[in-house]
Amino acid sequence: MSTFTETNIYSMPRVYANTCPEAESSSSSSLMLRLEGSGEKPRSEVVHDSSKSYRKGSLTITPVLHPCTESSTRSTSFGAQVDGIDWSRPIPEDIIAQLIEIQDEYAVLIFRKTGLDNNRHVAFSQQLGQKLEINPFFYGRENDRIGDPFLWDVSNINRDGSIVQPNSRRWHHSLGNALWHTDSSYHQERSKYSLLLSHGTPARGGSWTHFADTRQAYEDLPQAVKGMLDDLVVEHDLWHSRRLGSPTIFKEPLPQERATKPPAYHRLVQQAPAQGRKALYIAAHAKLIVGWSYEDSQKLIWKLIDWCTQPKYVFSMEWLDGGDMVWWDNRQSMHRANPYTASMTARDVRRATIIDDGPFAWGVMDQEVAAAKQKAEKISMGQLDFPQNP
Ligand code: OGA
Ligand code: MN
Repeated sequence: MSTFTETNIYSMPRVYANTCPEAESSSSSSLMLRLEGSGEKPRSEVVHDSSKSYRKGSLTITPVLHPCTESSTRSTSFGAQVDGIDWSRPIPEDIIAQLIEIQDEYAVLIFRKTGLDNNRHVAFSQQLGQKLEINPFFYGRENDRIGDPFLWDVSNINRDGSIVQPNSRRWHHSLGNALWHTDSSYHQERSKYSLLLSHGTPARGGSWTHFADTRQAYEDLPQAVKGMLDDLVVEHDLWHSRRLGSPTIFKEPLPQERATKPPAYHRLVQQAPAQGRKALYIAAHAKLIVGWSYEDSQKLIWKLIDWCTQPKYVFSMEWLDGGDMVWWDNRQSMHRANPYTASMTARDVRRATIIDDGPFAWGVMDQEVAAAKQKAEKISMGQLDFPQNP
């Protein structure tokens, strides 16, 4: 049975397992879009295991996920909590350099109770890269609660303080955040880092963000599959993920929405920032493999998202206190939010997004897309078969 045609992928039942607290599976149908990854029991917490902590200068680093197998001498941990930063004043440049080194290694860094406000959040972000993304204010500047074009309101709170309601376009737009994604892969000039900061204390047990290690996932693929993925180019489209998240409301984006965001092209396999590692660059925004049919593209894309989000590559970070902040590298991780629910409580998280200044920042341009298309046409889906749980 074919499961990923353009007519039925948007109407398949969605399951959001791998959420915290664990969601109930909504359907036992085999025609199911496994938005959550492999569907096994999630790693539901960041275990702050201080026996794993080590010092680097004035900083204390506590890694989160350790691989099941030790490969070579290099660290293959994913995620780390970093303590020991004095957030009350501008961060000195030598600490910034140290943090970037740590970030390159772990891909997701967690900071607790930073006490940062909007201005300091933006100032710290600007120390990590020259350009920040400007919020497109899809739902009107006049509805903006925060008042800073460098900050995105990722909260579930309206300007008047009420909680976003299920019938609003903003609610439906946000459902796409519950799909595994990287931020801004739908921009031709993509972003490298995202920094999400919590204001106010979220209700315990109700606020999580989930992260998946796209470096280790790539590394663990069979060699023959890696060889075939290496040259593929992916078309990313924000409106594809919005439609997957909310098939009826985002069946057709509004003309101003579509105009603000045409698709973008990026390589599926990327060089990770440090350590000579590679990573899969993939997201729910990924719509087509250039040169492939829609159906085969979606099959491969979701197979890879499933692969990357096996529990061994995933951890879930709980938002505990106001001032908690997580800084992730979109080039070597995926993430997702918990889906909105009718019973959710207020959650005020705001994001700064830093534009990539590395060698792959601009993705793949016209001529290269055409060349990739010709090459990709020679690969069939069947050649890319690999077991989901080897
Ligand atoms: C984001 C995002 C996840 C969350 O801000 O880009 O995906 O848990 N957020 O809010
Ligand atoms: Mn995101």
